[in-house]
Amino acid sequence: MSPLRRSLSAGLLGLTVSGCQAPLDSFAPVTTQGQSIVGLFTLALAISALIFLLVIVVLTVVLVRFRARPGDEEPPQVEGNQRLEIGWTAAPALILAVMFVLTLRTMTSVNASPPSALRVRVIGHQWWWEYQYPDLGIVTANELHLPAGTPAQLELTGADVIHSFWVPQFGWKRDTIPGKINLLPVQIDQPGIYDGACTEYCGTQHAWMRIRVVGQSPSDFDAWVQQQRTPALPPSGDLASRGQSLYLSNTCVNCHTIQGTPSNGRVGPDLTHVGSRSLIGSGVLANTPDNLARWIHNPHDIKPGVLMPDYRTLSNDDVRALAAYLEGLK
Ligand code: CUA
Repeated sequence: MSPLRRSLSAGLLGLTVSGCQAPLDSFAPVTTQGQSIVGLFTLALAISALIFLLVIVVLTVVLVRFRARPGDEEPPQVEGNQRLEIGWTAAPALILAVMFVLTLRTMTSVNASPPSALRVRVIGHQWWWEYQYPDLGIVTANELHLPAGTPAQLELTGADVIHSFWVPQFGWKRDTIPGKINLLPVQIDQPGIYDGACTEYCGTQHAWMRIRVVGQSPSDFDAWVQQQRTPALPPSGDLASRGQSLYLSNTCVNCHTIQGTPSNGRVGPDLTHVGSRSLIGSGVLANTPDNLARWIHNPHDIKPGVLMPDYRTLSNDDVRALAAYLEGLK
């Protein structure tokens, strides 16, 4: 094997084994709809590659074989060829017709949603995601839970400006537009964590409008539904109890809801089970008591421009008590 070929194969092997595989995996579709779209894309790519190859081969042969040589006479001048012209008009028309029919078929299957699909209202806010499950009586934020193997119908809308809901592994995306509902049917094939982001510039914190999809087995999803439907647990311990009274006596209640307490604001994320989520601030921090305390104290330090006010007037102990209360809301 020549040194060039050896280094090329080593390089390709390296790319496959380590470098390129992981990023490509995050685009491999995990939904039935995404797989249909990728199937169509791969077919179109293969047909285009074949045509490209054919053109290059024919062009190379013609250029080499029929090149002008010294002493050549003027070649015979040919004008038009009816058969060829019909051929190269009909063949592309036929390929386009086939692609048109296949595209229509893919669009129909991707857009189809059985009446039994799990409905989830996805609402884009500056700068977080609200998820409502109208048939299950659940409202949550920033973590979308979906059962694997079950069709779901995402109903996308916006609360303020246009956002775009993109989870690369879903295989497709749609905008969330205020006053309009866009449908995004998805069926996740296997449990897993699938991350995404807002992809329509929507203001200062557009970049921190991350999406986390938690795909679960149907039994895990049912357990999650049961947990989400129960009102918030009463605080356990003195610190958390103090946190609850601080929560109820401050302006937190104007914007947030905690089921089972008088707090029912609708401006910010529902906090009934905020302790069970893995991230806070729509993906900006891991959900730990320290991070949550930092966030409550001054979210503008962490996510400049965020619409939540800071609580720098509260003492450190008060902020810790609030964080302890909220982290206990599993
Ligand atoms: Cu929301 Cu960009």
